[in-house]
Amino acid sequence: MSQVASLTLRQPTKDDGAQVYDLIRRAGTLDLNSAYCYILLCDMFSGTCVIAEEEERVVGFLSAFYRPDDPETLFVWQAAVDPAMRGRGLATSMLKELLGREHPQSLRYVEATVSPSNTASRRLFQSFADACGVPISERTADGYSPSMFPAGHAHEAEPSLRIGPLV
Ligand SMILES: CC(C)(COP(=O)(O)OP(=O)(O)OC[C@H]1O[C@@H](n2cnc3c(N)ncnc32)[C@H](O)[C@@H]1OP(=O)(O)O)[C@@H](O)C(=O)NCCC(=O)NCCS
Repeated sequence: MSQVASLTLRQPTKDDGAQVYDLIRRAGTLDLNSAYCYILLCDMFSGTCVIAEEEERVVGFLSAFYRPDDPETLFVWQAAVDPAMRGRGLATSMLKELLGREHPQSLRYVEATVSPSNTASRRLFQSFADACGVPISERTADGYSPSMFPAGHAHEAEPSLRIGPLV
């Protein structure tokens, strides 16, 4: 657990799932998954997820998991910060908190898919790579294309960003 000004950063528990669902809903640009999905993430993937809390209110969430085919790669799925709390380094702090934890194996890469129009998210990962002094590469073929999404669910491309190797 760590503190960012008045905020607490910690691993989630299954009791956080409902508040995480609300946060993702008000974050605006993210795909909103089911409440069950967030409860499950907070329960079974708590070691690779981060909650930012202010006076028991969830104001930030980062979800991630080790790639099943490459456990030295941490895949960051969704990052969300309450609109009122943005631009203060909270997402960066959550990412650092997560990377600073003990992991079952050494981490060599951080990956995420980020739409071309999501400037804030791109900046977050670029800035993280710069701070670590490691390269970031974009690979469209490893991401997800608009044609993969179901009819009626128009979705921007989600090219893959890969940061590392971390030292
Ligand atoms: C993306 C998001 C999580 C960033 O959270 P945040 O706490 O505001 O990010 P930080 O304050 O840690 O900023 C990280 C970097 O991005 C930059 N940044 C943040 N918001 C930005 C914006 N709107 N435009 C351009 N750059 C931005 C910051 O300046 C910082 O870069 P720097 O270190 O070079 O100064 C937040 O904007 C959000 O919740 N967006 C909606 C959900 C989403 O799109 N999530 C990402 C997809 S998974």
